[in-house]
Amino acid sequence: MDAVNVGLLGLGTVGGGTATVLLRNAAEIQARLGREIHLYHVAGLNIAAQTIVDPQTTKLTENAFDVVNDPDVQIVVELIGGYTLAKELVLKAIENGKHVVTANKALIATHGPEIMQAATEQGVSVCYEAAVAGGIPIIKAMREGLAANKIQWVAGIINGTGNYILTEMRDKGRDFTEVLAEAQALGYAEADPAFDVEGIDAAHKLTILASLAFGIALQFDKTYTEGISKITPEDVNYAEELGYRIKHLGITRKTDKGIELRVHPTLIPEKRLIANVDGVMNAVLVQADAVGPTLYYGAGAGAEPTASAVVADIIDTVRTIDAPLQHKVPLLGFQHDAMRDTPVLPIDEVVTSYYLRMQAVDKPGVLAEVSETFASNNISIEAVLQKEPTGGENSVHLIMLTQKCIESNVNQAITAVEQLASVQGKVVRIRLEHLGS
Ligand code: HSE
Repeated sequence: MDAVNVGLLGLGTVGGGTATVLLRNAAEIQARLGREIHLYHVAGLNIAAQTIVDPQTTKLTENAFDVVNDPDVQIVVELIGGYTLAKELVLKAIENGKHVVTANKALIATHGPEIMQAATEQGVSVCYEAAVAGGIPIIKAMREGLAANKIQWVAGIINGTGNYILTEMRDKGRDFTEVLAEAQALGYAEADPAFDVEGIDAAHKLTILASLAFGIALQFDKTYTEGISKITPEDVNYAEELGYRIKHLGITRKTDKGIELRVHPTLIPEKRLIANVDGVMNAVLVQADAVGPTLYYGAGAGAEPTASAVVADIIDTVRTIDAPLQHKVPLLGFQHDAMRDTPVLPIDEVVTSYYLRMQAVDKPGVLAEVSETFASNNISIEAVLQKEPTGGENSVHLIMLTQKCIESNVNQAITAVEQLASVQGKVVRIRLEHLGS
């Protein structure tokens, strides 16, 4: 069979990794696929100075539109990132009848509906395995491997930079900004690292996972997002004493009232496998009715791990390149006319447990007063820890773990507790999940 011509947009961290893997493993890939993938046309900045691609066999340009308008390119691989230009290029490629592979989670989470509509009308595929959890084949697992199941919930460590920061803070007591700078130097962080530490990147990925899990539309704007920048070493240590680790989790769960869609720091029992996923590694835990819990683990960022997913998508696209869309796996895992309009729950209506830390005056009766305030807001306390704060003031840190309760009740209780004369300052609140099946 003839070679399939691939056009690559971007030769940055992921683009460079993709070209490297495609070229280095060409024989292995051809042996699996039965067909050659030809890196035919590549667009990148300072393209003449690049050293990855051979200009004898690959056309080079600094104008990405040259690639999407090249009539000999069959698959366009978008690895430039961002929303505006990437969206324009992807829509143009689709209009030109080309299949698309992208690692762009922001693009899929925010403009996915329009892109998929255009692709459906043109009868071309859009693959985005690398958009979620880097090299872990979680999209394939959810769209295909778990297709027999009703998925109940998904919880994932889906931002490598954030996990790296939390791990270094916990293990080595390192400073937040220092570790972030290191993650940036290693090519893990987003162009704007606020996307990593404030949870926006994880929210993009969770938006995609929720669609695949529950057959709902991509709804990034309804994803609740809270970052890790306010997590202190004190809370990391207290959580450890109570048998928990703090992880930045993306959680989506189907409940009777709707779908939870939330990214925030979360205490999880240290005995869970996912609690022990450290550094830049990602993991996604999927709870489904037939198979039970399954855990997917691997590198969530970096040039070649991400390239691994991009190249797998190119291979998948080639396998069914001539097949009509109805013979391919649906873009979001569910048939277009079977998508559901289950509502996404506002964060106030989410039910979960909480870690609460407050500074209280060290005198008799305070613990009873605080407990009573929680009880009057329908919050049951599961565990209490009292600690001397560093500095030795006449006050203590009270740490309470709650049983499951409604977020709005916790908010009311926190407001009431903060008004008690015996409680100083703000209550620190971190959500807690047991992640049992
Ligand atoms: N900045 C992202 C991360 C890159 O750290 O996980 C991979 O999506």
